[in-house]
Amino acid sequence: MTTRRKFIKQSALASAFVITGMPKARSEEMSMTGSIKKPIVISTWEHGLAANETAWKILTSGGKALDAVEKGVMVSEADPNVTSVGYGGLPDRDGNVTLDACIMDEKGNCGSVAFLQNIMHPISVARLVMEKTPHIMLVGEGAQRFAKMVGFQEVNLLTGESKRAWEMWLKENKYEPIKIDKDNHDTIGMVAMDKNGDISGACTTSGLAWKYHGRVGDSPIIGAGMYADNEVGAACATGKGEEVIRICGAHLIVELMRNGKSPQQACEEAVKRIAKKRDVYKDPFQVGFLAINKKGEHGAYCIQKGFKYALAVDGVNKIYDSDFYVK
Ligand code: GLY
Repeated sequence: MTTRRKFIKQSALASAFVITGMPKARSEEMSMTGSIKKPIVISTWEHGLAANETAWKILTSGGKALDAVEKGVMVSEADPNVTSVGYGGLPDRDGNVTLDACIMDEKGNCGSVAFLQNIMHPISVARLVMEKTPHIMLVGEGAQRFAKMVGFQEVNLLTGESKRAWEMWLKENKYEPIKIDKDNHDTIGMVAMDKNGDISGACTTSGLAWKYHGRVGDSPIIGAGMYADNEVGAACATGKGEEVIRICGAHLIVELMRNGKSPQQACEEAVKRIAKKRDVYKDPFQVGFLAINKKGEHGAYCIQKGFKYALAVDGVNKIYDSDFYVK
């Protein structure tokens, strides 16, 4: 953590170098280093708090952002009370829990799984797709076969509680098409920068409750649900995946930051892109975005009131309410 005293010392050091004739670019870089907030980790929803805690321990003990985001989101994947991610996730309309996840490191390596069943940690399977195969994305039965091949056990992910919720939905909705509204939310997306200033991201979900069997959202799509570029920053998304995919949400935000927008401005612009195409007043679906940049600045913005996020920086891990578009 950069204390005020350390920061003043670093800034003074930087100006001292300017005086003694250090080339300008180098001296500017040094004075910026003094104000970079790192490590930093940000993740979606209240369940992000516990996930951040695990990530933070890794980051503060000098670990890599990639390990932090993987281990962080695994906390939500294993928590049966988080009914939108991993174990205990609400099933599709046929009663199957199907999982989507992706991960990306500071070198632009990435891995992803979609429509994966009976595996507790899809994010770790995504990481192994990245590390052990020449591919980026494996889906369905092929992803499951790969997971078993690299040592994952098959588990039943449908808890009694999620099964009861599904049976209730069946009774009330009589298998009617799903309603994707602001309350049918999902996902843990997490992006982090480690002490070295390296950035990675992860995103994992059981997707929308009562979705069509086979439906895949934005979460495993690199550039939609999550994107990281170590030169610029990273972003992740939550909410109605179909709308996030339409605008390539996370990639759009990173590109907006590359072109000079702050993380907050970039998240707001992405939400506005969606709002331009959809009547977000009449159709109250939710999409939320989070972003960080290389300075350790963060941004959060969503369509409807109600999106919360967890931010750990400067030794404080806290839940915040995101600003929103529909007012
Ligand atoms: N945002 C996750 C999904 O739509 O599945």
